[in-house]
Amino acid sequence: MGLGHLLHNNPDPGTDGLTIDHGAGYDVFGVVFFGGRRGRVYRRLAELSGAREGDRVLDIGCGTGYLTRRLAAVVGAGSVAGLDPSAKVLERARAITKEVNCTYTVGVAESLAAADESFDVVANCLMLHHLPEDMRARAVREMWRVLRPGGRLLIGEFRPPANHLGNHLIEALTGPAMANNPLHLLEPMVADAGFERISSGDLHPWIRYVTATKPGAGR
Ligand SMILES: C[S@@+](CC[C@H](N)C(=O)[O-])C[C@H]1O[C@@H](n2cnc3c(N)ncnc32)[C@H](O)[C@@H]1O
Repeated sequence: MGLGHLLHNNPDPGTDGLTIDHGAGYDVFGVVFFGGRRGRVYRRLAELSGAREGDRVLDIGCGTGYLTRRLAAVVGAGSVAGLDPSAKVLERARAITKEVNCTYTVGVAESLAAADESFDVVANCLMLHHLPEDMRARAVREMWRVLRPGGRLLIGEFRPPANHLGNHLIEALTGPAMANNPLHLLEPMVADAGFERISSGDLHPWIRYVTATKPGAGR
């Protein structure tokens, strides 16, 4: 049993995705796992999302809201909607969020309740590998649907260590989804959904990001 299993204990999560239910435990894990670089990495992700003052942003699989709050700092008078299937993890997100422009709602990536073209930016971090592989493309198509033309997508995903020992450790600690994360499928999936201006890069220690734009009017 990996450490991940200690964080997921909802028998009826309302999704085939793997939910996080122990938010406080997840945040402790995050601090240790990122070795002091979590804040820097997530601030950079918020920048890379292209979110600007006044934007409406959706953070899917927001967990305890770590990215949500960093996006909130960027959009000022705009708003950031955090979404997660786990009501328990959202309780913690609400409890530790002081930013008045963040809201948190229960929902799932594969079937977003939001209207078409209702966001300027859609972001998610460390969420897609929580979905079964055959559900990920559907989630990316939903991101496309709720973005306005010209809107921006940011995906942050776990980048497994290249060496065998590191990868075995990750698998033992967190399970196979992170250790075998198929990052090479991200950009094709984003392109298949219809996005353009796709670019990607790495943030140390653990993140591969992909950014893209929905064609149409706007930026
Ligand atoms: C590793 S956490 C990432 C949390 C946060 N984005 C961060 O970077 O700290 C993955 C999150 O995805 C959520 N999740 C699981 N299944 C999901 C689904 N079907 N739709 C949206 N989120 C889901 C989990 O509940 C969990 O909070």
